[in-house]
Amino acid sequence: METTAIDVKLPKRELYAELAKQVQALVADERDFIANLANASALLFYSLEDVNWAGFYLLKDGELVVGPFQGRPACVRIALGKGVCGASASSRSTLVVPNVHEFAGHIACDSASNSEIVAPLIRNGELIGVLDIDSPKFGRFDEEDRAGLESFVEALLRQTRGQ
Ligand code: SME
Repeated sequence: METTAIDVKLPKRELYAELAKQVQALVADERDFIANLANASALLFYSLEDVNWAGFYLLKDGELVVGPFQGRPACVRIALGKGVCGASASSRSTLVVPNVHEFAGHIACDSASNSEIVAPLIRNGELIGVLDIDSPKFGRFDEEDRAGLESFVEALLRQTRGQ
C-alpha cells in the first residue's frame, strides 16, 4: 500500500482532511489492528511538522501499554490517571498540553518533548487506548489539531471496526 506524501505546510484543516482520507485508504484492506496502528503512527509522524513521537498506548488489563509508534523508545506502562496519557484515558477526552513541564504528573519519555496532545480511542463506547503525539516546540498543538486528530481517530476506528 502506497500513500502520497502530504505537504506538511498545508493549512491544518486541509492537512487533517487529507490525513483522515489517507488513513482510511491505508487500513481499508487490512484486518490486523496492530498493523493498521503501526501504519497510522507512521502516517502521522511523517505528515506533521515538529513532532518527535507519534503513536498509541493500548488499554490492557486496566493499564496503558505502549503500542505501535514512531520516535524514541518510550515508557512501556502508564497507569490510568497518570501522565497526560493516563489523564486523557480516564477522562476520555483529548488533552492539549502547550507546556508539558507545567503539567502535574507529566511522564517524560523523551527529554526533547515540550508540548503534547493525547486523544482517547473509544470504540463502541469502550476505551481501548490513546493516541499520543509529542513535539519539541512549545504550544505546537491547538484546537485545530484537536479537531483534526479526533477526526483521524474516528476514521481509523471506523475502518478497523471489529479488529
Ligand atoms: N508524556 C506522556 C508519556 C508518553 S510519552 O510522551 C511517549 C505522558 O505524560 O503520559
